[in-house]
Amino acid sequence: MRNVGIIGAGQIGSAMAKVLAESGRWSVIASRRKVHELEELRRLGVRVTSDNREVAANSDIVIIAVKPYKAVDVLKEISDLVEGKIVISVAAAVPIKKLKAAAPGAKIVRAMPNIAVMVKASFTAYSKGPDLDSKDEAVVVQLLREMGEAHEVDEELMDAVTALSGSGPAYIATLIEAMAYAGLKVGLPRDFAYLSSAYTVFGTAKLYLESGRHPAEIKEMVLTPAGTTIEGIFYLEESGIRTAVMKAVEAATKRAKEIAKKLNEGD
Ligand SMILES: NC(=O)c1ccc[n+]([C@@H]2O[C@H](COP(=O)([O-])OP(=O)(O)OC[C@H]3O[C@@H](n4cnc5c(N)ncnc54)[C@H](OP(=O)(O)O)[C@@H]3O)[C@@H](O)[C@H]2O)c1
Repeated sequence: MRNVGIIGAGQIGSAMAKVLAESGRWSVIASRRKVHELEELRRLGVRVTSDNREVAANSDIVIIAVKPYKAVDVLKEISDLVEGKIVISVAAAVPIKKLKAAAPGAKIVRAMPNIAVMVKASFTAYSKGPDLDSKDEAVVVQLLREMGEAHEVDEELMDAVTALSGSGPAYIATLIEAMAYAGLKVGLPRDFAYLSSAYTVFGTAKLYLESGRHPAEIKEMVLTPAGTTIEGIFYLEESGIRTAVMKAVEAATKRAKEIAKKLNEGD
């Protein structure tokens, strides 16, 4: 069993700790300052502490999951204890160069998961720092795949990834809510409306992923001439749903770049 440390066991860090501990393949130690908030993790067999250095000293791989503006300070605090170790930062907007400067001896990976880590269905993109060899990368992929899918991406695309798959659960939750509202409008019982909307999103994504059919093809399979679906599609197209989504992701990417610029000013 490998030892994994998670510094900043908040929303995403706790979800990662839970998934790794429950797999039985990783020994997990996690920290945050309000350590009493980690009772649930402790019950799952995660060692919990408020001491980040204790986490680093007892781990082969360290995950940094504090807010972006704290990532560098936390890394500096443990720098001497992570020499030769893999450090995965999930902090948005903090570049590998800056992480490397904070812990020069560490093998840095920058990753962007999403909140679906909670159900082992994250889409996680990662970029490798300069010192990672293929064995290290295999370990990183093995660890990230405990939480869902993991794919490498050029670091320069990380702001776009943050805006698409990082923020994505919020967009899809909005879609599920909109579909459920629609269900209520046409008289479906509330629970049924939410459940059928969520399963429809889930099933369509699964169909795309497993059949390899293009989304346009999936749509064609449902569209009958003069049928009900084309009636619905007509209004979706009229409302500009595609451009709305494109504008949303483009705006979120722009915002991610602005935040990164502000955070890294003066470097
Ligand atoms: N939420 C997402 O969907 C998501 C997705 C992808 C990436 N991320 C990235 O994940 C990181 C965390 O986001 P989050 O949403 O999980 O935030 P969060 O819930 O606020 O978690 C951050 C945790 O860090 C702890 N912390 C603060 N200072 C610390 C310190 N000095 N040492 C140790 N722990 C400390 C905080 O707990 P205490 O106050 O008790 O210390 C808090 O629980 C961010 O960098 C974000 O960009 C988040």
